[in-house]
Amino acid sequence: MSTDLNTISKLADLQSQRSKWRHNNQIIALVPTMGALHEGHLSLVKLARTAASKVIVSVFVNPKQFTQGEDLDQYPRDLAADLDKLKTIGADLVYAPDVEQIYPKGFSTHISVTGISEGLCGVSRPHFFDGVATVVTKLLLHCAPDIAVFGEKDYQQLLVIRRLVADLDLPVDVLGGPIVRESDGLALSSRNVYLSKTDRQSAPLLWKALIETRAQLLQGVPMQQAASQTSEQLIKAGFILDYFELCDARTLAPIHQYEGKPARLLIASMLGRTRLIDNISVIG
Ligand code: PAJ
Repeated sequence: MSTDLNTISKLADLQSQRSKWRHNNQIIALVPTMGALHEGHLSLVKLARTAASKVIVSVFVNPKQFTQGEDLDQYPRDLAADLDKLKTIGADLVYAPDVEQIYPKGFSTHISVTGISEGLCGVSRPHFFDGVATVVTKLLLHCAPDIAVFGEKDYQQLLVIRRLVADLDLPVDVLGGPIVRESDGLALSSRNVYLSKTDRQSAPLLWKALIETRAQLLQGVPMQQAASQTSEQLIKAGFILDYFELCDARTLAPIHQYEGKPARLLIASMLGRTRLIDNISVIG
């Protein structure tokens, strides 16, 4: 296990390290994050470790995926704590660029993945996936990894990135890691720290709603009917639902009734001032 964790903020230093690794035929994986690392992020680093000989973790709170009124300023940042966590699991390098390194003065380009980014989170956060696609493209170009690892927690984001990589012929394999949850079912998220004590107690209901709805879908109950009962319970508990949809697992096209093709049940909701998202696979 490595305790020697190199932290780089400048692209030139990153490129020089990367060429040394390339020269030694190392297989490089990148795990992009916005920091405030938890076991979900660390599981992706562990997954990266199984597939590559060198693991880069990027830590960058990307302003382009937040819009006015969102939590860019409050977003939790603690690089020292992140480094301590990464040291214990053997990451090889942390790339923590500042905003000017990613978006120098005059930066005017954005990457927009149409179609798959437009439903679900793309409806209430129309700026979001352009911001993600732009920063991920830059991080992939900066780090030039052989493998990039993303979590299924942000299922739509994972599919947007797979589309982006395919469309731009980026020479990288995208791996998806499973969702890591608290013992009560709440999916780990850097934003869970925003939850009040009471909201934290209600938060696992989101996961419970996914499980209960999936059980009904697998018995042939149409989505609208299955979701209406569970949605009611969530609304009573104080959730303000953004979406609750059954989608084709590959294209995210909406499905009205589960008919055996791999599907994904996805939900997003505000609870207090915290936006929570979660999803589950539906396979009979
Ligand atoms: P962030 O929210 O920090 O998440 C970084 C990665 O960790 C993402 O791929 C996300 O899906 C994954 N992740 C988060 N919670 C998880 C959990 N409970 N279990 C498993 N994986 C989890 O997603 C972003 O940052 C940004 O949009 C980014 C891709 C870094 C671009 O800025």
